[in-house]
Amino acid sequence: MQPHLNQKLYSYLSFVIVVLTIALTSAIAQSGGQARPWMNPNLSPDERAAMVVKEMTLDEKISLLHGTGAKGLGPVSALNAQSNGGAGYVVGVPRLGIPGLQMSDAAYGVRGSGENGRYSTALPADVGAAASWDLDAAYQYGALIGRELRAQGYNMSLGGGINLTREPRDGRTFEYLGEDPILAGKMVGAVMKAEQAQHVIGDIKHYTLNDQESGRDAVNVNIDQRAARESDLLAFEIGLQDSNAAAVMCSYNRVNGDYACENKYLLTDVLKKDWQFKGFVVSDWGATHSTAKASAAGLDHEEPGFVFYGNDLKEAVEAGKVPLAEVDDHVHRILWAMFATGVIDDPPRKSVVNVEGGFEVAQRIEEQSIVLLKNSGQLPLDASKVHSIAVIGPHADVGMISGGGSAQVDPPGGNAIMPPGQGQSIWGVPTWFPTSPLKAVRAKAPGAKVQFDSGADSASAAALAKSADVAIVFAYQWESEGMDLQNLSLPEHQDDLIGKVAAANPHTVVVLETGGPVTMPWADQVGAILEAWFAGSRGSDAVANVLFGEVNPSAKLPITFPKSENDLPHPTVVQPPRESIPNWSVPGVWRQIAAGLPPFQVTYDEGVKVGYKWYDAEKKPVLFPFGYGLSYTTYSYSNLKVTAGANPRVSFTVTNTGSRAGAEIAEVYASLPVAAAEPPKRLVGWSKVQLNPGESKEVTVEVDQKYLSIFNVEKDGWQLLPGEYTFLVGGSSQNLPLKEGVGLR
Ligand code: BGC
Repeated sequence: MQPHLNQKLYSYLSFVIVVLTIALTSAIAQSGGQARPWMNPNLSPDERAAMVVKEMTLDEKISLLHGTGAKGLGPVSALNAQSNGGAGYVVGVPRLGIPGLQMSDAAYGVRGSGENGRYSTALPADVGAAASWDLDAAYQYGALIGRELRAQGYNMSLGGGINLTREPRDGRTFEYLGEDPILAGKMVGAVMKAEQAQHVIGDIKHYTLNDQESGRDAVNVNIDQRAARESDLLAFEIGLQDSNAAAVMCSYNRVNGDYACENKYLLTDVLKKDWQFKGFVVSDWGATHSTAKASAAGLDHEEPGFVFYGNDLKEAVEAGKVPLAEVDDHVHRILWAMFATGVIDDPPRKSVVNVEGGFEVAQRIEEQSIVLLKNSGQLPLDASKVHSIAVIGPHADVGMISGGGSAQVDPPGGNAIMPPGQGQSIWGVPTWFPTSPLKAVRAKAPGAKVQFDSGADSASAAALAKSADVAIVFAYQWESEGMDLQNLSLPEHQDDLIGKVAAANPHTVVVLETGGPVTMPWADQVGAILEAWFAGSRGSDAVANVLFGEVNPSAKLPITFPKSENDLPHPTVVQPPRESIPNWSVPGVWRQIAAGLPPFQVTYDEGVKVGYKWYDAEKKPVLFPFGYGLSYTTYSYSNLKVTAGANPRVSFTVTNTGSRAGAEIAEVYASLPVAAAEPPKRLVGWSKVQLNPGESKEVTVEVDQKYLSIFNVEKDGWQLLPGEYTFLVGGSSQNLPLKEGVGLR
């Protein structure tokens, strides 16, 4: 009896001891006990970061200030083996409970999932999301990315591209959010806020003026300060203010003489001082060019490796060339970002991504992103009346194209145009998502004869079109990081194809899969045009829903579509001279880039006149204006009232005058007093209004005073010039039926 009882007592006591130990440890951690007081979530991120910095050795500090390397971009540390497979990995400080940073590109979904044996959803390209002008959709976009990053084990996102479309031939236009700083800033703000709500560090990039890919490692961008603050920088200012994104990625290029990643004006004066940014600046991959200069200018962290911020930085500190306080500030900012976003309190847990849920979100967002550019009564198609449909276009039987480069999301099932099993994404090769327009159209019109022609032979495509009631041409223009488009024409003779198909059948609908504007010599000949962008994992279902009227299109262009390249501020993209182009086939070329390639100049003398502001000021007619997009219903505007005040209020009524429910994006522009010497008008706000047929709603848009201000360089601040402001309201930048002037001071 005795031994048995003792055994029971012993097990009971051991159990109690274990429970008490667990409770005590967590109490110490949670309640600010002595062990790791910075683990107390009730303290502010600043207090917590400061406590950790005090405990750290110099080596530990330095290790947080750089990545562990990437092949071809400098030395790679053995510690890189702990990377989760993303673009960047930073070791943590386990002794102090500080986790490493696992960074992944995530522009329109999590990158590199294919090679890591994982899955991620491809959302519509970022520019498409911008076309929704819908902050809720942008929030869902970011939330999905945040969830999938966490499920894949990442705690930092490298999405958030908002370089303004100064140069629509920029190969990364699809990754960005259009040409207007307020639209781009608001949208990225919503995306980043959503990502950070998933406890993932958000990052806005590329800071700044990396508006062309050609010669990006060498180019020196010249721009005057006021124009920069009112355009590209304003987008960052708004995005950061709205989201508190905890990281900013400085760009490859030089700005007014200094590399962006060692540019004191950009990193310290503007970002850290004026905007009071509390997070950290991470260099683009290989965009760091110095140690002491970069550190003093405000670069906090080098990626992907440690060419300048490893031993060199340590030695510079020991030699007194870089003050320890400066290093402490860099470290503090990184720790602040980790505490503020919750990556320490709630680290990612790997789990299975919700594939079906992701598809659903991608489709709904795409449905809100498709812009109806032209409709001569051709759409929506009535499945009960259409007996035969010709689906035409390269690969329209199997897939839709996606944007390439570091934004590339891998399609589950592989690239639709490669043989099975060989479908991984390859840099420089277009990836087609297995979302088949042909199948989607067939599903919508089960009673119709739906036939396919690739368009390789335009005569055979035209013959098929002639035999059908309706021809739908799926045309594409691929874009990728690392290149710019030579022109805005559709490649592979697609203009010729569309022209021939339209000549054979006037009931031709063109669906564009592009990352930005294209020219359309055939625009007058076709019945309807849809801009579907790079449409994401479930693009074809979204397009079919719009074609057949199950979804009423509501999106508006976030970029002007010009008539010709000759109308752009720069008719050609300035190309780097030979010596400024890195030769990537030479091993160790990163050394040459790090040392600094000889600069060449690009001068943005159009200044603040980006996009519609340029065409307005220069009185150049365009193909489709900024803010433009049709619907299957019509809207009217009335009753404009402007109430002056610190943030003026603009009220008006929007009425659905057609016979279908729809959502109208009502846009508010302002013309500044003449003394401001600004372009004719600027977007200052908008509202997306859901309306049933015949329904009217009163809308009020409160306009932030900053959006009406100019940047006064002498005073180094925003200034509202006293005078007469004209508010213009309507459905596109060139259709603004309501107008009212008001004096502001
Ligand atoms: C791109 C960045 C990207 C980084 C990491 C760079 O080449 O410019 O946008 O985040 O690579 O992949």
